Amino acid sequence: MTLAGTTYRKVIAARFSKNFRHAAEVVEAQLQPPAANEVIVRTRFAGVNATDVNISNGSYTPNAQPPIDLGGELIGEVVEVGEGVEDLKVGDFVVSTKLGGYAEYVTMRSRHATRVPEASAEILCLLASGVTAALGLKVTGEMKSGETVLVTAAAGGTGQFAVQLAKLAGNHVIGTTSTDDKAELLRKLGCDRIVNYKREDLGTVLKAEYPRGVDLVYESVGRKLFDACVDNLAIRGRLVIIGYITEYLSEPEIVSSERIYFKLLGKSASIRSMFLLHYIKQVPEIMTELVNLYETGNLYAAVDPTPFQGVDAVVDAVEYLHSGKSSGKVVVRF
Ligand SMILES: NC(=O)c1ccc[n+]([C@@H]2O[C@H](COP(=O)([O-])OP(=O)(O)OC[C@H]3O[C@@H](n4cnc5c(N)ncnc54)[C@H](OP(=O)(O)O)[C@@H]3O)[C@@H](O)[C@H]2O)c1
Repeated sequence: MTLAGTTYRKVIAARFSKNFRHAAEVVEAQLQPPAANEVIVRTRFAGVNATDVNISNGSYTPNAQPPIDLGGELIGEVVEVGEGVEDLKVGDFVVSTKLGGYAEYVTMRSRHATRVPEASAEILCLLASGVTAALGLKVTGEMKSGETVLVTAAAGGTGQFAVQLAKLAGNHVIGTTSTDDKAELLRKLGCDRIVNYKREDLGTVLKAEYPRGVDLVYESVGRKLFDACVDNLAIRGRLVIIGYITEYLSEPEIVSSERIYFKLLGKSASIRSMFLLHYIKQVPEIMTELVNLYETGNLYAAVDPTPFQGVDAVVDAVEYLHSGKSSGKVVVRF
């Protein structure tokens, strides 16, 4: 039986705007039969990512014009396969970072879908959030053992995995957060030093307690936390820029100080960055490793408990993530 002609709902950016609510519209569409090598996936959960606002404002797709499909991460069930698809069958559970995940159904090339054992919110967490942490630390950050690793937004979607992977590799882990509840999650994840930056100044803590500096930083917040991390790198320290959420909804802050080489060369320190879309071919292999860690009880996936149901809840879910109140991964259930 074909699903062609089925009406479904999805979230699009009808116009580009930094304000996700202003950009987004829920529209109806009709499923077409899958083309050769395509599959149709019925979404079970969509992952909410800080960077959704960079998609809705057009900065990730500078050559595209609205309308564009929104949502960068989903988990669901294959419900129809096109000609030539051999690696997937109807009933398989898959994850995908294909753009357009805020939709009840998504049609995609089968190579954009990675098979997973179940379609749970926890497995979804391992995708953009978990894989980014693994790549950012291990590949870009050249993570070792016995080092001091600092993770900002440590109780967030991706930060939670950076903390755990750094601990699994045998490092001392510092995590920043802004609330006592999130600090409690970080304690459970094994964070060695939790810095609530609303109560303590990160730069002061690092200077007093880590005079040798920090070897590896997984940084996704930006502004003053970024500055404190740069100022406290150890000799041969590496800072990996994963994001800068404090500047996503505003104009860039213009800063004036000496050039960055004054802060780096004297320590042989470096600043690097990692953007998942440039490593997309490595996603299936790393995803498999993370699923194994999760299934053997070596990796915990914290899902924020606030319920968001269906396409109509997507805007609220994105705004909730940007309120800074969420803990663990924010997901929308379909
Ligand atoms: N490079 C990549 O490929 C890639 C992939 C995935 C994610 N990322 C980046 O990783 C970062 C985290 O993304 P996520 O989706 O996992 O989000 P998240 O960490 O679940 O949520 C954002 C967290 O950032 C902290 N935060 C600090 N200042 C904030 C502000 N002004 N507004 C909102 N939140 C603030 C809050 O945690 P505290 O209260 O604990 O500080 C908040 O809970 C983002 O910068 C994102 O762009 C990058």
